[in-house]
Amino acid sequence: MATIVGSVTTSHVPAIGGAIARKVQQEPYWKPFFDGFGPVRQWLADVRPDTVVLFYNDHGLNFFLDKMPTFAIGAAPEYRNADEGWGIPQVPPFRGDEELSWHLVEALVADEFDPVVCQEMLVDHAFTLPMALLWPDQQWPVKVVPICINTVLFPLPSAARCYRLGQSVGRAVQRWQSDAKVLVLGTGGLSHQLEGERAGYINKEFDRKFMDSLTRDPVWATQFSINELVKQVGTQGIELLNWLAARGALTGSVRERHRNYHIPISNTASGLMLLENR
Ligand code: DHB
Ligand code: FE
Repeated sequence: MATIVGSVTTSHVPAIGGAIARKVQQEPYWKPFFDGFGPVRQWLADVRPDTVVLFYNDHGLNFFLDKMPTFAIGAAPEYRNADEGWGIPQVPPFRGDEELSWHLVEALVADEFDPVVCQEMLVDHAFTLPMALLWPDQQWPVKVVPICINTVLFPLPSAARCYRLGQSVGRAVQRWQSDAKVLVLGTGGLSHQLEGERAGYINKEFDRKFMDSLTRDPVWATQFSINELVKQVGTQGIELLNWLAARGALTGSVRERHRNYHIPISNTASGLMLLENR
């Protein structure tokens, strides 16, 4: 049986790609953010996962406003990045874990989640930059399965539904006949809003409550409606749905190994958490 080793949840701001390209990780603006990843990389070097299941939201690279699946899953041999217009370099392609993808597709449909299944899929900064933060040499020692949640075009799936999606993925990974070690990633957030009257909005208190809830009381955030969450964390802070799905996939007893929280990185309150699953 496959093992879920834990989850890493992190922000995914395009400017991170610019900082990597300019090699300014140790400059005062960026240092508190990049240094947060040291303990996560150490843990990855010890645990050595084989495959990553990554919950994220596409921002218009693979899905645009004309066709927006609520949930989509990759089932491709390879995933490429492409220019999103941020002026940041593209990262090398990722090897897909096709066997796990199809296992998850079967399991999710049986569980009545019905994702759009993508045998071709471009992955944007919300996928590539968290991967580059975990593996800075961009040699990707893991295969990947992307799972995309719509957090950009209303109506959005509820927090409770995203959590249950994660649980369904977690149960399916546990049933997978494989000796693979699987790491779950969730990207986006934490509180931020890019447009309108509340552009620049941050909610430190809610972010902290949310991060605290993830270890012992992960259903805490599912009490809120999407509108209540947007009010609390901003129109893009709602990307925390990806964190909730990733946490839902942890099936065992969960221990917090590391966290970092720093304001601001671009327009966001940047968050990072490593949860170990035993
Ligand atoms: C920013 C944040 C995001 O989540 C994103 O997808 C793009 C940009 C920002 O703060 O600049
Ligand atoms: Fe985003």
